[in-house]
Order: sequence, then structure tokens, then C-alpha cells
Amino acid sequence: QILPIIIAGGVGSRLWPLSRQLYPKQCLSLLGDSSLLQTTLERLSDLPHQAAIVICNENHRFLIAEQLREKNIPNNGIILEPTSRNTAPAIALGALHALQLATLHPDKNTVKDPLLLVLPADHHIQDPKAFCLSIQKASPLAHEGNIVTFGILPTRAETGYGYIKAGAALKKGLGFNVDGFTEKPELSTAEAYLNSKRYYWNSGIFLVKASVYLEELKHHQADMLTACQQAMNNAQTDLDFIRVKPSAFEACPNNSIDYAIMEKTTKAVVMPIHNTWSDIGNWSTLWEIADKDTAGNSLHGDVINLNSHDTFVHAENKLVTIIGLNDLVVVETKDAVLISKKDHVQQVKDIVQQLEDNN
Ligand code: GDD
Ligand code: MG
Repeated sequence: QILPIIIAGGVGSRLWPLSRQLYPKQCLSLLGDSSLLQTTLERLSDLPHQAAIVICNENHRFLIAEQLREKNIPNNGIILEPTSRNTAPAIALGALHALQLATLHPDKNTVKDPLLLVLPADHHIQDPKAFCLSIQKASPLAHEGNIVTFGILPTRAETGYGYIKAGAALKKGLGFNVDGFTEKPELSTAEAYLNSKRYYWNSGIFLVKASVYLEELKHHQADMLTACQQAMNNAQTDLDFIRVKPSAFEACPNNSIDYAIMEKTTKAVVMPIHNTWSDIGNWSTLWEIADKDTAGNSLHGDVINLNSHDTFVHAENKLVTIIGLNDLVVVETKDAVLISKKDHVQQVKDIVQQLEDNN
């Protein structure tokens, strides 16, 4: 059975001023009632799976535990990181815990070497049913020892994603071998990839046996594996929380799965998913997927608009009135207001950096 591993340790600073150090993006309800984290788990309702393992920052433990409890979402442990070491170590902690589960809870239908479904907690996927089918279809490939990536057909030369070069077709139309993986390329490279039509975007969702992930880590990032093993072997458990040993985890190299494993492994295969997908990375991507009026405005909260178009407004506390705005983002919260051109929203993270530097 599939064991979801939810990586939920980022802050999502490009969604400031809604996302904050103590209230990260994955805990925000940006599209409806459920937060991005809750949606990530609710999306799996058509997939037979075990309760998820969640890996997050220690500072967010109560918020995350409360969000799971609120929607009656069971878990197989919430692993707490004292500091961020990016996604490769976070997934390693999840994989190590997954292998222990069968010994710890033989009663819970646990499997010795489960298939891990690695899920970022910041995605929008239009059709959850079709998504669950894609995962099921990919399971045999992961059982055979591959690292399955889920590829999305690129629609623009996005530099914030990983690019997967599709190689030879696999049997039964199950996808392709991976001939190359490039994380966050330069714009000119991304443009060339887009035009060649041989590349997929990496959705950041992976399906892999726990043992295969750890073997690959041993092969390509031995120091990382050792640090994560020490952090987990000396972890303290407190109800659902698993607190890894801080000194061991702090000694772990910092890297994402994309650079640390995917650019190096020979075990990757790609399964294309034909689903409307996006990483809710910034205000502009949120505007793209949100409901809009006939003039393309997406207005949330107490907002009065005259003659604006293609504008996103989120008003939290005050009445916000806008006149004749085009292609802007306006976000009002209790203590901060953001006003940005929609095509400049990547720079929100520079504002956050400046605020941190000033503190
Ligand atoms: N536990 C934990 N610890 N989770 C983390 C950490 C960490 O240190 N760092 C990031 N995460 C979580 C984030 O909360 C998010 O859910 C997920 O891991 C992905 O991290 P991002 O920082 O959002 O990655 P990205 O969007 O820049 O790039 C990745 O996703 C793209 C698609 O969305 C890569 O996999 C790209 O190749 C991919 O195209
Ligand atoms: Mg992301």
C-alpha cells in the first residue's frame, strides 16, 4: 500500500503578507475552506493508502497537527525538523520512519518496504480522481525499483521548475525513461527545452520504494544519509510528534531532492500526467487558478471595484476599493499591505528578505 510523505517544511515567502514565518503557505486556505496541506491529503480520497507521514518545521507543529485533526486526517507520525535542510533530507527522514513503521505498528496494516508517495504541500491539481488513477498506474514501475516522477507538459519557459527529458517509451504506454533532469534552468535553457517538445516539468511529486530512495541517497549523498540516520536513531517521540536529534540534523548537508538525487540517478522514469496542475508559488499563479469575474478580476473579502481588470485583491480586515487598476495584486492584512504589478510578484521574496535583514 502507498504511504504518503508530505513535505511541508517551507515558508512560501512569495505569498507574503499572508504567509509568515509562523504561519506558512501550506497552512493557508487560499482556494476554498481547506488549507493547501489539508487539500493535499483530501485529494487522495480515491487512492488506497496508509495514513501519511508529515515532515515539517518544529515551529509549525501545533498548527499542522491542528489542521490534520480539524479534518479528521489520521497520520503515521509528524516528523519535526529543528531547522530546514531542504527536501532531500526531509524525504530521507520520512523514508527511515516508514521502514520503522512495520516494526512499530505491525497491527496497522503496515508494509515492510512501502511505496512512498512524496507530496509537496503547495500544489493545485484540478482533477483529484484522475490524479489518483495516475498514481495507481505508476505503482508497478515504483515496485520494480524505479523512482517515478510525474511530468507535466510545459506551457511556458518557467525557470522555477525542474525539467525532465523524456527518453525511450516504457512498455504498455506507462511513461518514459528519463534521459536527463535539469533543476531550475536559466531562461534561455528553459526556452530551448520548451521549444524542443521533449521535456516535461517535474511536478515535484515522486513515487519510490523507501529502500530505493535510501539506497540512492547512500550512493549519491552518503553524508546526508548518515546525518539523517543519526537524527532519526536519536529522535524523541511525543504522541504523534517525532523530534529528530537537533545536533545530528543540523550537521546534515542542505539540498533538494532535485539536485541531490534526480539530476544524478539512473533510476528515474517519468509518467506524464494530463491534469491541470500548478505550484501555488506566488500571487500571480494564485490569480491564474482562482475564480474570476468577466473582466478577469479575482476579488476576495470586502472589495469594491470600478473599471479594473485582471487584478487580484485579497482584503482581510478593511474595505479595499480599487478604480481602474490593471494587472495588479493587492493584499491587505492587519499589519501589512502589498501592492505589486502581477508580473513582478517574484520579487515579494526580496521584500521579505529586506524585512528579515532589518530585524
Ligand atoms: N519538511 C520540509 N523541509 N519540507 C520542505 C523543506 C524542508 O526543509 N523545504 C521545502 N519543503 C517543502 C515545501 O513546503 C514544499 O511543499 C515542497 O517541499 C517543495 O519545496 P519548494 O521550495 O516549493 O520547491 P520548488 O517549488 O522551488 O521546486 C520543486 O517543486 C517544483 C514543482 O512545484 C522542485 O521539485 C522542482 O523540480 C519542481 O518543478
Ligand atoms: Mg513549490
